[in-house]
Amino acid sequence: MSGAGAGPGAASLTFTTTGAASTRDLARRLAGRLGAGDLLVLDGPLGAGKTTFTQGLGEGLGVRGPVASPTFVISRVHPSEAGGPALVHVDAYRLGGGADIDDLDLDSDLSDAVMVVEWGRDVVEQLSDSHLLVELSRATGAEDAQPAQPLQQAQQAQPEQDIAAGDGEEFDEPRALTLTFVGPRWDDARIRAVREALGGEASTTTTEGREA
Ligand SMILES: Nc1ncnc2c1ncn2[C@@H]1O[C@H](COP(=O)(O)OP(=O)(O)OP(=O)(O)O)[C@@H](O)[C@H]1O
Ligand SMILES: [Mg+2]
Repeated sequence: MSGAGAGPGAASLTFTTTGAASTRDLARRLAGRLGAGDLLVLDGPLGAGKTTFTQGLGEGLGVRGPVASPTFVISRVHPSEAGGPALVHVDAYRLGGGADIDDLDLDSDLSDAVMVVEWGRDVVEQLSDSHLLVELSRATGAEDAQPAQPLQQAQQAQPEQDIAAGDGEEFDEPRALTLTFVGPRWDDARIRAVREALGGEASTTTTEGREA
């Protein structure tokens, strides 16, 4: 036996998406496996696709949209139109640290909602005993694809604007998405269900022994 359920482990699934629609589709399928109280921490550089991913979650959860970069608000609640949990979309980019997060009173939102936090890594994990870390990055070999902007400088120059999704310009590049399941909410059965829902070309690793 492989110790199902006992230790949370740190299982990861890695996917490659081919463009924005593909990233949305992955997130839409993931949404079917999420429930109230789930915390997703999105990590990755400017323009990696964090908001795009969140849009797919919103579609999958059947929440009232549109899901967009919460540029001037730090947190936005999208109520469900399907009788399910709301989506709480947080952008922690401008938060200075843990103190600000506490002021937002996100804990009370989390129990009734799926909460997604862009730039949330090392900032919001304390909100729950469990979280799903989603790391987005340009897939290896994508160097010759042209980003729409010189992303980092753009963000530093105009941090208040939504640079990456800015002018409605869509372009498709491969992205690597790594999902890492942390904590007791993500037991083996649930991780397996996610893998089945997302299907395809996932490669799986676990830090605490292999799953069958
Ligand atoms: N495979 C892909 N997955 C997601 N987005 C992609 C992909 N290929 C190209 N894109 C484009 O990259 C951009 C991603 O923008 P998005 O706003 O989602 O990024 P972000 O990580 O939320 O940025 P920010 O750090 O500003 O919040 C969009 O313009 C999208 O069309
Ligand atoms: Mg964003």
